[in-house]
Amino acid sequence: MSDPIPFIDLQAQRRRLGEPLNAAIRAAVEGGQWILGPQVAQLEKDLAAWAGVKHAIACANGTDALLLVLRAWGVGPGDAVFVPAFTFAASGEVVALAGATPVFVDVLPDTFNMDPASLEAAIALVKRDGKLTPKVVMPVDLFGQPADYRALAPIAAREGLKLFCDTAQGFGGLLDGKRAGAIGDAAATSFFPAKPLGCYGDGGACFTNDDGLKELLLSLRMHGQGSDRYEHIHIGYNSRLDTIQAAILIEKLKIFDDEIEQRNAVARRYNEAFAGSNRIQIPVMIDGATSTWAQYTLQVEDRAKFQADLKAAGVPTMVYYPIPLSRQKAYAHYPSAPTPVSEALSSRVVSLPIHPYLEEAAQNRVIAAVLQSAG
Ligand SMILES: Cc1ncc(COP(=O)(O)O)c(C=O)c1O
Repeated sequence: MSDPIPFIDLQAQRRRLGEPLNAAIRAAVEGGQWILGPQVAQLEKDLAAWAGVKHAIACANGTDALLLVLRAWGVGPGDAVFVPAFTFAASGEVVALAGATPVFVDVLPDTFNMDPASLEAAIALVKRDGKLTPKVVMPVDLFGQPADYRALAPIAAREGLKLFCDTAQGFGGLLDGKRAGAIGDAAATSFFPAKPLGCYGDGGACFTNDDGLKELLLSLRMHGQGSDRYEHIHIGYNSRLDTIQAAILIEKLKIFDDEIEQRNAVARRYNEAFAGSNRIQIPVMIDGATSTWAQYTLQVEDRAKFQADLKAAGVPTMVYYPIPLSRQKAYAHYPSAPTPVSEALSSRVVSLPIHPYLEEAAQNRVIAAVLQSAG
């Protein structure tokens, strides 16, 4: 058997970025302003311009980016934040860390994103119960595809709730020509290395068109500082982006459009290859949406066998996510709409290697192994 295919190949991207990346890192080191240096301000300008949003505010990681916005909005004890049950833990964690209550919402079986009907049910549940005040709807752009904001935004607007997009996996995706990052009252992303736009450590950013929110976020990421560094007007955080990470992200953003296109090309090939199999369910895109394909995720009946077959063929797979948040020990006591779809998905989903540098020969190996196991 030939060598296993890597699930993700970040070194291929590093080789492409080459000397300009090395020079950018060297300049950040030699510049000596290692935290929130000038490259951070440059990155914030570049990100905002690229996404088509007024402000980007960089911070230490994606989890903080979510928490900073919730704190800036004053979300806290007694408040309900509606979060999908099928997501990474950070989406629910930040709500609890803010002192508020995550209320879990089911997802759609084909796109994996928040189900508008389940959101309505969760809002009704909270209102009926009368103990919490609904405050924020926080859909997740899972695996790279924007959530169905056409359906979710009107519900949030009708109920007077903020719309906050967890686009940690989807930053740069498109819905009706609008970038994820520029959708909603605010959005937050992660620059974790494996994300479509990742740095070489931890990093994150918040996005908004709201000038007041931007000022609050700048303060909160720096210990709640006021106009002077040692004047503190809020209880804040130490949540800043390292200059070296900003320098890396500036270089990566220059090739991000092309990388998104390459990811889409791989996804198209997979979709075409698997469309004919009735033992595999391929991921579904909503009309007018472009995904960043943070993950390419199939649904199969016998996942254990499928993973074992692919492993034997040198094709690694991952399971995102094996337990819905509504069933996790740490979160099971929070309110939840019924989440049968999230529960079913958690035993069926399996993600395949996808990245912009996945060569045709490797794609062929993935396709052959999948069809051999479940075609
Ligand atoms: C959906 C989602 N939200 C939030 C986060 C948190 O980002 P970070 O790891 O940068 O804190 C991640 C990624 O890890 C994520 O996938």
